[in-house]
Formats: sequence, C-alpha cells, structure tokens
Amino acid sequence: MTVLLIGGTGKTGRPLSRLLPAARVASRNPGPGRVRFDWNDPTTFRPALAGVRAAYLVPPLAELEPMRLVAPFLAEATAAGVRRVVLLGSLIVLPGAPGVDELVREVRRMPESAVLRPSGFMQNVLGGHPLGDGLREHDELVSAAGDGRLGWIDADDIAAVAARLLTGPAPEGEHLLTGPESLSYPEVAEVLSEVTGRRIRHRAVSVAERTEIFRATGMPDAFAAALGAVDAGIRDGAEDCTTTTAAEILGRPPRSFREFARAHLAELA
Ligand SMILES: NC(=O)c1ccc[n+]([C@@H]2O[C@H](COP(=O)([O-])OP(=O)(O)OC[C@H]3O[C@@H](n4cnc5c(N)ncnc54)[C@H](OP(=O)(O)O)[C@@H]3O)[C@@H](O)[C@H]2O)c1
Repeated sequence: MTVLLIGGTGKTGRPLSRLLPAARVASRNPGPGRVRFDWNDPTTFRPALAGVRAAYLVPPLAELEPMRLVAPFLAEATAAGVRRVVLLGSLIVLPGAPGVDELVREVRRMPESAVLRPSGFMQNVLGGHPLGDGLREHDELVSAAGDGRLGWIDADDIAAVAARLLTGPAPEGEHLLTGPESLSYPEVAEVLSEVTGRRIRHRAVSVAERTEIFRATGMPDAFAAALGAVDAGIRDGAEDCTTTTAAEILGRPPRSFREFARAHLAELA
C-alpha cells in the first residue's frame, strides 16, 4: 500500500518518513524518494497521488482558510482511490479560524480517517521557530503566556502515532495528543537551563508584541494575530491538560521535555 506523506520533510513528517521508509514523501523540492507537491500548485496533486491508498496530511501552513486549497486535493485523492487520510490538526484552537473545523469535517468524510490533535511541539525550541530563535540568540523563551501551562509533545511521538494510524487497522476519530506533563514557559526554561547548564529565562511580552514576532517571520497578519492570541488562551489555562492517548496507542509513555532536551543537547548548544 503506497502512503503519501504531505509535509514529509517537516517536524512530524521527517520522523514519520524514517518510520515508513517505503512511503512517498511530498515536497516542493523533489528528489530521490520525493515527489513534487505544492499546495499552491494543484497540478502537482494528481501525479503525487498515483497509486496512493493512504495519506498523511499536513495542511497548508499559516492558512486560516485551508479548505480553499485542501478541497481540490481531497477530490483528487478520492478519484485516485485514496481510502485513508490522517490529518495533522491541533489541540490548540486558533481563535477566529472556523476554516480549520471545516477541514476536520471534510477529512472525516473519507472512507477511513483520523485527526491528530497535538499540543505544542517541543521542537519549537529548536531551529525554524521564533521560540528557538530567541533561545539560540538570547538564551530566552519569549511568550505572552505567563505561567499558563500546556502539554508539550515531542513531534517524534506524534510521528509514531501517525505511523500506527496510517498502516494499522482502520483508524477513526480525533486523537488528543500531549506529552506526559503540562509545563509553563518558565518551567520549560528551567528544564532547558538544567539540561544545557546555561541560564535560560522566560521573557514575558504582551500579546501584541508576540503577534509582531510572528509577523516578522513573514506570516500573514491575520494568522500572526491568531497565533499571538493563542498565548492569551494558554495564559488563562485553556491548554493546561495532558492525555493518555499517545501512551495508549504507542504502548509506552511519550517523551518528557527533560528527555527531549537531553536527546537534542547538541542542537540546543
Ligand atoms: N508547532 C506546533 O507547536 C504545533 C502544535 C500543534 C499543531 N501544529 C500543526 O502542525 C502543522 C505543521 O506545523 P509546523 O510548523 O511543525 O510545520 P512543519 O511540518 O515543520 O512544516 C514544514 C513542512 O511543510 C511543507 N510545506 C511548506 N509549504 C508547503 C507548500 N506550499 N506545499 C506543500 N508543502 C509545503 C514543507 O515541505 P517542503 O519545504 O519540503 O516543501 C515541510 O514538509 C501545522 O498545521 C500546525 O498547525 C503545530
């Protein structure tokens, strides 16, 4: 059964491609084992889907109305005989983004489907995210989330869950995925200080400042504002939860932030 990995070079997709080495990786930069795929170029959908029966779907990034691009893809996928779709959604609800709910509804109309709803990725403290940039450049984690907690999860654990759901018995439903503990940004800074031996601190900013940090990465204004507003929700306790779902699916506990930091010490240095 051919499995297509959209976002197969990203934070969850790369470890997933290692777990499923026969899968076809979709990327804007094709190469050996990689097929060209670009959400902004629908002519890439059909060739990428040839012979595919299951797909991992990382939706278009920084897009408040993803169905604009995903609807034609799902139509092509159905025509190509794709039966199973595993969608990477989010446990963190983006304020003012009803298009995300529509995406979940449409994916669940596929013959077999599952929606992963992970909490914040531990990988955000590595490169390629404003959080990691602040850590690397100034030994600080910048947020507007105060002491609010969230159930940080290792993207490798999300990938391991996705691998099971893509290749095992027909999955269904939504899977709320967190790590083993709920931690605030100041608590993450403490863990990182302890593991790296550096003095890493949390710098509290306003929601407007945090929004500006996202906007400065080139994100559309509305999406940056939605991500900034997420911090207000975290601050108010909206994301303070852990689930046992990952452990139940994987048959082992998901990685803690301390274990993650130890495993990524070289990248954190
Ligand atoms: N970060 C978090 O804390 C968090 C928490 C919960 C949920 N999520 C969700 O996770 C998803 C992934 O977020 P992420 O920041 O971790 O990104 P990521 O998966 O690391 O994103 C990069 C991936 O997207 C692909 N990509 C980028 N633009 C593309 C395009 N135009 N067409 C096709 N593929 C494209 C890239 O492929 P190429 O460059 O190879 O083309 C790469 O594989 C998002 O939907 C987000 O909502 C994130």
